[in-house]
Amino acid sequence: MNVTLNVNNVNHTVSVTDGSMPLLWVIRDLIGLTGTKYGCGIEVCGACTVMMDGQAEHACVVDVTSAVGKKITTVEGLSSDRSHPAQKAWIENQVPQCGFCQPGMLMSVACAMNAGHHGSEISKEVKNLCVCGTYARIRQACSKL
Ligand code: FES
Ligand code: FES
Repeated sequence: MNVTLNVNNVNHTVSVTDGSMPLLWVIRDLIGLTGTKYGCGIEVCGACTVMMDGQAEHACVVDVTSAVGKKITTVEGLSSDRSHPAQKAWIENQVPQCGFCQPGMLMSVACAMNAGHHGSEISKEVKNLCVCGTYARIRQACSKL
């Protein structure tokens, strides 16, 4: 079946074998946006976090058909030039270590900002896991937002 998804303000029509295919598979393998990561597949780590209609969603557990008609933003769409305030704070505070969790982390932060949270409230909202333990720098970066 064909489905059309709006990702980062671009419509993509892709052919999926099954409507229950996870959105994460479609974003990465069919659309080719590999910023969004696969970590656990069971909605625990947050590596796959994308914004859907302004809210954080775990793309590893969202069926592709549920994403049709929604406005999906991935880390690639956060800004074209690293100018989103969260990206700037991440760079200023040199947050990433290996970097694997960071796209999902940034999307969770951006969604918390969309929900009206500021500063330390943001890091309390973000439940994503970082195996490298960059939490202190994450809190520091969020404190400036
Ligand atoms: S890969 Fe989706 S929450 Fe871990
Ligand atoms: S920076 Fe390595 S998992 Fe978070």
